[in-house]
Amino acid sequence: MLSNNISVGANGNLTFAGYNTVELAQKYGTPLYLMDETMIRERMRVYKKALADFFPNGSVPEYASKAFSCKRIYQIAAEEGINVDVVSPGELYTAFKAGFPMERCFFHSNNKTDADIEFAINHGIGCFVVDNTDELTAIDSIAKKHSINQRVILRVTPGIDPHTHKKISTGSEESKFGMSIKTGDAEKAVKIALKLENISLEGLHCHIGSQIFESDPFVTAAQLMTEFMVKIRNEYSYTTETLNLGGGFGVKYVENDPEIDYYERIREVAQKVKNICENENFPMPKILMEPGRSLVADAGMTLYTVGGVKEVKGYKNYVSVDGGMTDNPRYALYGSQYTIYNATNADKEPDYVATIAGRCCESGDLIQEDVKIAKPERNDIIAVATTGAYNYSMASNYNRVARPPVVMLSENGDYLAVKRETLDDLIKLDI
Ligand code: LLP
Repeated sequence: MLSNNISVGANGNLTFAGYNTVELAQKYGTPLYLMDETMIRERMRVYKKALADFFPNGSVPEYASKAFSCKRIYQIAAEEGINVDVVSPGELYTAFKAGFPMERCFFHSNNKTDADIEFAINHGIGCFVVDNTDELTAIDSIAKKHSINQRVILRVTPGIDPHTHKKISTGSEESKFGMSIKTGDAEKAVKIALKLENISLEGLHCHIGSQIFESDPFVTAAQLMTEFMVKIRNEYSYTTETLNLGGGFGVKYVENDPEIDYYERIREVAQKVKNICENENFPMPKILMEPGRSLVADAGMTLYTVGGVKEVKGYKNYVSVDGGMTDNPRYALYGSQYTIYNATNADKEPDYVATIAGRCCESGDLIQEDVKIAKPERNDIIAVATTGAYNYSMASNYNRVARPPVVMLSENGDYLAVKRETLDDLIKLDI
């Protein structure tokens, strides 16, 4: 099986986090998102321990909550003592309503409106990760109005191609995010930030992309950022206290993907930063990291019920399910790979080549093409593994399809974290 939280139960049904998936499908209905709470907590602890072990005091992970956002996940992050990253008033509000301590909340995004900044300050946001100089001066003047000194971190593009899908690559010069070291924009922003009266410049940030398996791009990013910190210390007598290295570690979606040891990966990056700091006689900064996918992706699984099995002779075997691009748009968007099981008959040979089709009126609404599963029949349960990141958070109501609920699987039982959307929910904003 793909991951150690997936196995086959005595009756041939697929189990996830020790739970029988077919029984969960009966109990909650399908489509259904499952989240393995134990695994999420374990991953948060791995990051927390690695940052504490290899970097100076105060180095902590920040959960990039765009990967999966609902009140419960912010409560789990709060209980595990990690920070969170939010990218919109919506994520910020969810964290706030979940009781997450706002001083541990970092507000990202490449375009924060004045209203967003005001909203965040009114809710006691800890720190802004600033994308550009217009935003920097806007934060300063809104902070002035509130008579506060606002902590900020500047987002810098180190100029790296991390060899991942173009749409999730963010660290190159041409990126819409952040300010480039190479063009001099990053340096200009540091100069401005140091002069602004209501801004407290806490450090620098970079995020090079997502679903990255190699360690070289992270090590290179750490090196370029450290060299930049040294440069601004030498030129502006400003010593960066905090360096945020972003998220991006890859996750195993299919058997061929490697499995990353996150603890060891962080050790490697730490060694590099330490070496450069020692050579340059620069005090080792506090390190923040922002994992999203690697905290929640393989803690997730989606269950569907099979409608029809349609064999188009000489072409494809379509297995239609009761969800699709509305709950998981990643194949349609990026051609992302997934591992699929016939959860009802997980003990049978996966020898049937199937294309899992969603229910939307759109030919591209596929979950995966030509994957091998045990031959399904109408009403069998299909399980898609590794759907914990960027599935629920990217779900839509296209075709007015209601979004599935999220069920948490914990050591103390299964419980709803998000209810199933109803038809009345779908029309509640219509006048
Ligand atoms: N920090 C920043 C500033 C980010 O932009 C992101 C992701 C992360 C951290 C978390 O990266 P992760 O650890 O999850 O790789 N929707 C796409 C992924 C977009 C990622 C956007 N930024 C997908 O489904 O693959």
